[in-house]
Amino acid sequence: MRIRLLYIYLAAVLSVTLCITGCGGGNTSSEAGSADEPASQWTIGMSQCNLGEPWRVQMNQDIKNAALDHPEIQVIFKDAQNDSLKQRSQIEEFVSAGVDLLIVSPKEAAPLTPPISAAFKQGIPVIVLDRRILGDDYTCFIGADNKRIGKAAGQWIVEFLAGKGKVVELKGLMTSTPGQDRHSGFRDGIKGSGIEIVFEADMKWLEPQARGEMESALARFSEIDLVYAHNDPGAHGAYLAAKAAGRDRDIRFVGIDGLAHEGQVYVKQGILSASFEYPTGGKEAITTALEILAGKEVDKEITLMSRVYTQNNIEAGGEWIK
Ligand code: FRU
Repeated sequence: MRIRLLYIYLAAVLSVTLCITGCGGGNTSSEAGSADEPASQWTIGMSQCNLGEPWRVQMNQDIKNAALDHPEIQVIFKDAQNDSLKQRSQIEEFVSAGVDLLIVSPKEAAPLTPPISAAFKQGIPVIVLDRRILGDDYTCFIGADNKRIGKAAGQWIVEFLAGKGKVVELKGLMTSTPGQDRHSGFRDGIKGSGIEIVFEADMKWLEPQARGEMESALARFSEIDLVYAHNDPGAHGAYLAAKAAGRDRDIRFVGIDGLAHEGQVYVKQGILSASFEYPTGGKEAITTALEILAGKEVDKEITLMSRVYTQNNIEAGGEWIK
């Protein structure tokens, strides 16, 4: 009798154990790794400066999609919530955890240079995405040419306004390199024209901040022909301020990013006159990471192309800028 009870007990324990490891499908082999499917060979740490803007959510999504086809890599994401100090410690955490490669889209150049440089000097390959750091202690930089985009935007605006007009420039964070380059490129593009910059402010890439700055511009200037914002959230924030002041029909808006579900929609709706594409580079980061991990030499600089979307060309997929 005792022996029978023991058998029943053992059978019960066995079935519970089997169920924990095999029932319900919660811990599927593709998620957890199984005997048939080995765990990933490489771990990539991805340090994203923030996920508050649609463009950054898209970048992470592009990275995830590209990594899906490669079970040999596992990407771990950290979001620094727009805080350079937090991003700095998250990069250091990745290094202590022993990741095989780092992808970093830094918030600001100066404060993020030391941790990236330290990781690189320790032998961890680093791909810097979109915003630059100082110096060249990294393996590869991937991004579009912001000076070229700013210049193309300037030239486009000169033509659009037939050579003259009063313009507001809403700048991206000026401690980040795209803000600096979109500004200097733009000034280059309007050089020699009759465009007058009546108001400029740093809206730090943020829509609510851009809206606030535009309210100040509207209060000070009764004549504004166009707003050039360094990103589409900034251009949209300016549009909302103008709309609230009943002046949206007198002013034109131009932005940068050109996401399919953001800038391109604004152009189709007639809210923006133009949006310049700024590709996220997520897919290219994974392609390059795989090459580095396979021991291949990669270019130090990978420049992505950009298009302009306007009401005239949006249905045809925009036009490449030179
Ligand atoms: C998102 C963003 C984009 C912009 C890019 C520049 O954080 O502001 O809108 O194009 O960063 O680094």
